[in-house]
Amino acid sequence: MVETSDTWIRERTGVEARHITETETTVFMASQAAEAAILDAGILPEEIDLIVVATSSSNVIFPCTACEVQRAIGAVHAFCFDLNAACTGFLFAYNTVCSYLESGLCHCALVIGAESLSHLVDWQDRSTCILFGDGAGAAVICVQDGPRGASVLHSDGRLGDALTCETHHQSRWQERTEMTHLRMNGRAVFQFAVKRVPEVIEEVLEKAELSRAEITYYILHQANQRIVESVAKRLGESLEKFPMNLSRYGNTSSASIPILLDELKKSGKLKKGQRLVLAGFGAGLSWGASVVTWG
Ligand code: UT7
Repeated sequence: MVETSDTWIRERTGVEARHITETETTVFMASQAAEAAILDAGILPEEIDLIVVATSSSNVIFPCTACEVQRAIGAVHAFCFDLNAACTGFLFAYNTVCSYLESGLCHCALVIGAESLSHLVDWQDRSTCILFGDGAGAAVICVQDGPRGASVLHSDGRLGDALTCETHHQSRWQERTEMTHLRMNGRAVFQFAVKRVPEVIEEVLEKAELSRAEITYYILHQANQRIVESVAKRLGESLEKFPMNLSRYGNTSSASIPILLDELKKSGKLKKGQRLVLAGFGAGLSWGASVVTWG
């Protein structure tokens, strides 16, 4: 479709494979992830009282993806809404959910990152169509999980033009067309990420009064292998503390952090009491980091 090569993609991004939806919707993937998380948590869907879905690629404008997930999984007691912070979405949604839990408004929440960006990319644009993949990940978070670790969240709308997805609606009598285009200044986003992500990690560690030695893993948004490597280098940390799976999924935007967490959990690498830093960045531009103690 575009002039590129497998070698270029592997060397410049680290992506070797990814998943693209055909008939599956964002709701379908989010519901599958939600059911797996609920099963893993050993609770019933009826015990969930809040569902927040981080997505910028819901298939319909409303009802929101979270309500559709609620219907699919039978979480009849939950109130539900979506949150759009692009690739930083899971991190923002996680913090939103924690705040609701701390306020006493709910007791057991489901936070999901789900994206079908393959429907939004321009398959003629080689700087973006080689990068993104579709997917979903979910986590159950309940009040008994203990106090929240420190978080630092940032947005800078002045930099927003670096990564946009505009939908142009044209409505005329008896005729309606719609065009969506994802556009990215890859180099600008790359430079932003390799500067801001190490900074925000330092900031959150200082806020949490933790040293880098006390962190077992840094779970970074999986955008580009070179970004992860650069962040590790700037922090002076071993790359072994930066697990990656983007070679198999591409950049799944708000789904990348929960998919990686799930894989680490399944492989037995996450142990109770370990401290993790979750860090994300993306359109907005937005970025942030949270310290999480694995329970
Ligand atoms: O998750 C949301 C946040 N998004 C990101 O984090 C993405 C951050 N950015 C990136 O990951 C990288 O900037 C890209 C993977 C998008 C691009 O890699 P790059 O090394 O920054 O490439 P570039 O944009 O600086 O372009 C270098 C060259 C250009 O050619 P010239 O002008 O030097 O002749 C591009 O036209 O590579 C060319 N190029 C390609 N060549 C082959 C760009 N895309 C491709 C391609 N195949 N797919």
